[in-house]
Amino acid sequence: MNRQQWGSRAGFILAAVGSAVGLGNIWRFPYVAYENGGGAFFIPYLFALLTAGIPILIMEFTIGHKYRGSAPLSFFRMSGKKAEWLGWWAVFVAFVISTYYAVIIAWAMRYTIFSFGQAWGEDTEGFLFTEFLQLDVAPGETGGIVWGIFIPLVLVWVITLGILVAGVKKGIEYANRIFIPTLVILFLIIVIRAVTLEGAALGLTAFFEPNFENIMDPSVWVAAYGHIFFSLSIAFAIMITYSSYLPKKSDITNNAFITGFANSGFELLAGIGVFAALGFMATQLEVPVSEVASAGVGLAFVVFPQIINQLPGLNGIFGALFFLSLTLAGLTSLMSITETYVAGLTEKLGISRNKAVLFGGGLAALISILFATQGGLFFLDAADYYINQFGVAAVGLVEVVMIAWILRKTGVLQNHANLTSDIHLGGWWKVCLGLITPIVLGYMMFGLITQNVL
Ligand code: PHE
Repeated sequence: MNRQQWGSRAGFILAAVGSAVGLGNIWRFPYVAYENGGGAFFIPYLFALLTAGIPILIMEFTIGHKYRGSAPLSFFRMSGKKAEWLGWWAVFVAFVISTYYAVIIAWAMRYTIFSFGQAWGEDTEGFLFTEFLQLDVAPGETGGIVWGIFIPLVLVWVITLGILVAGVKKGIEYANRIFIPTLVILFLIIVIRAVTLEGAALGLTAFFEPNFENIMDPSVWVAAYGHIFFSLSIAFAIMITYSSYLPKKSDITNNAFITGFANSGFELLAGIGVFAALGFMATQLEVPVSEVASAGVGLAFVVFPQIINQLPGLNGIFGALFFLSLTLAGLTSLMSITETYVAGLTEKLGISRNKAVLFGGGLAALISILFATQGGLFFLDAADYYINQFGVAAVGLVEVVMIAWILRKTGVLQNHANLTSDIHLGGWWKVCLGLITPIVLGYMMFGLITQNVL
């Protein structure tokens, strides 16, 4: 059976960017940057991007391109059974993430509709928890399904799995060709609207104002590295899977640079949009920006609805654009996470793609429905915390140490990448993978373990 392939270089890059650009860019980056030094955070951020993000992206693209398999198969072809488990570990982390990432997309989808007419009213927090998520009952008391989430959640899975069934080129590539340009246009409209609001300058000052005081604080550097891993979708087996569908003639290193910079560009844009809107909110409430700045669920589903309430003019449309952007950014990431284990299952069990989508994707969908029940929602937070903290940094650390030190494959991979590209990888690439990244990630893991155990 011929392996599926991307139809064009742009198709692959759009899919890789689609995976990278997700909820993390919109609701995570702005706050992480703001909290860790504002303008000064760009120093550790760029350092992490250039020493870990892009080098690992190049490494994962090379592995996929050279060994032409999902992560477990690629690792197996590289070094046999002693490497294959690493691929399965990453696939497992991806599987777990997909079960709850889908739930957040479902919320965003529902909120797109709520935006028209601001269904959330004045008390946006009360609305989110009591009316929408129905968390006012004691956990376990009623395990009933929350229909407001259930229906969009089913839709999220039908769309995602439907796209995967259509295949790499006809499904994933075509979807990204439509979703990503649409996302960029919607987001540009949001940013332009946000920066022209009263008080926007206040928010932008808070975001960009450099605070060099803590720049040498290790936690700031750890935040930068942690964010880059999540944001670029590296150490999840995803980028290996996607690059395994590249045609033989592909410029790997160049593709990695484009993907990395496009992701960061979007992230910066999101930071500007989010903080301009927060500046507006702070001005309306006559409080400092620090009081309204937040991230994650609180930012998207509590603070943004408040901002939308206050906006002059066509605020429903602005709200819908915002939540639709979250939905699209999330869907293109969910496709990539799901494809990771669909490909792993197809190759390991020798089953058809459709069966793998049905069983793998179907199981993830069933598990994610647990998160649409009152009891299940309590697990969402815990799953997110542990997977992000331990899953990503740990897989990343083991991956670079295995490849650079145990299997000693950086030389082979470097040669392969250099055969494909005009950009020549030199010794710096090996230093980044073999020294800088393991040291920073090792420090990060050590800190996490002592912090959680002590
Ligand atoms: N990179 C995506 C984001 O920024 C998240 C993601 C993580 C996607 C892991 C796939 C896998 O939100």
